[in-house]
Amino acid sequence: MGERAGRQAMDYTRADFPADFRFGVATSSYQIEGARFGGCGPSHWDTFAATPGNTARGEDGATACDHYHRWAEDLDLVGRAGFDCYRFSISWARVLPEGAGQANAEGLDFYDRLVDGMLERGLKPFATLYHWDLPAALADLGGWRNRDIAHWFADYAELVGRRLGDRLAATVPVNEPWCVAWLSHFLGEHAPGLRDIRAAARAMHHVLLAHGRAISAMRALGMRNLGLITNFEYAAPADESAEARAAAQLYDAIYNRWFIEGVFKKSYPQEVLAGLAPHMPDGYEDDFDTIATPVDWVGINYYTRKLIAPDGTGQFPALKEVEGPLPKTLMDWEIHPEGLSFFIRRVHREYAKGLPIYVTENGMASPDRLVDGSVADPDRIEFLNRHLAEARRTIEDGLPLKGYFIWSLLDNYEWALGYEKRFGLVHVDFDTLERTPKASWHALQAALTAG
Ligand code: FCB
Repeated sequence: MGERAGRQAMDYTRADFPADFRFGVATSSYQIEGARFGGCGPSHWDTFAATPGNTARGEDGATACDHYHRWAEDLDLVGRAGFDCYRFSISWARVLPEGAGQANAEGLDFYDRLVDGMLERGLKPFATLYHWDLPAALADLGGWRNRDIAHWFADYAELVGRRLGDRLAATVPVNEPWCVAWLSHFLGEHAPGLRDIRAAARAMHHVLLAHGRAISAMRALGMRNLGLITNFEYAAPADESAEARAAAQLYDAIYNRWFIEGVFKKSYPQEVLAGLAPHMPDGYEDDFDTIATPVDWVGINYYTRKLIAPDGTGQFPALKEVEGPLPKTLMDWEIHPEGLSFFIRRVHREYAKGLPIYVTENGMASPDRLVDGSVADPDRIEFLNRHLAEARRTIEDGLPLKGYFIWSLLDNYEWALGYEKRFGLVHVDFDTLERTPKASWHALQAALTAG
């Protein structure tokens, strides 16, 4: 990676950002907690992972980082690094093992302790209600394909809100609707592993309906700072042809526009409807008022760009990804920091129009190794420096960017790719579960506690 790859320090300190700018770190329940502990019900990730061929080495989140038992040590790592906020997710299956009905008291108690643990350490809790661990009982009923998921989810949101809402600094219903819908129901890469256009079209709509219903349910409880988090990938045409440009534009519409336009414009991009309209639920247009229930802030998850070309099939969406020339992370994702400022500007200009914007995930995987008790990860430090530089530029231009969260605190279960894609600021030995802060954690600590 770049010429400064050997550096061990951040280019910025807290003082280079506005006084009210928040730094945070993010995780999710299934990726770290250990789903076999504490009376958690089965989720569709357990069953997806138990099906041969779906995940690397058949790995699952049964134990993960055992955060369920080690949460206090993990929150200490967040606090000691000098972060202001901790973004975590609540497992629907842990709170409601059957998806609805009887709550698991042990699960609710766990999140209660966790949130209090954050407050004791001066950390603002940023909660996500759904980071992909759908209760298997609801998957049996069709999961995101079933319109009823909107009220199942609203009921779950209300339950969580009643228990924790008074102490959450910010809450978002769904992490990354594109992954919930398209990646999981059209590309088949995540649970439930479907490759079906009708399933995808329904999930694309129901995930937003559920989002809107959950926002209203939490608003009715008096909760504040309710947000929307979507993921974005900078889509560039693979060559100069009109066909490649059209393919990149369609990719952008599916990935980067569908969800946020549903919420902020009460419509879906025409070029996507050209393929999905026959598969959409009847009367979907009547749901836009619910989908567009006002939110208080927007979160941007950003990692990479994609070069897009037509795939020659003529079958919607008829596009494919082409390998790009930029340096890549261990995920094979090109490093393209300019995309971050591009999306902050676009979200501000087209959608959020003055609402606070947060970067709610940004980070990289690298093949980090523990050598003599320490972990050198200069590429991660460089990656964070370059993305923070872009974030800063947007603030200098007067955009309301209010915070930046790094994915992730710990090396964890990277879904279908298992445990080898290490995204953490803290190294985890998956045999002993021992945590070791990497050089990037130390660099951030120096930057965030300076002065
Ligand atoms: C995001 C997910 C997160 C993690 C990172 C690498 O799409 O929200 O759980 O997998 O990618």
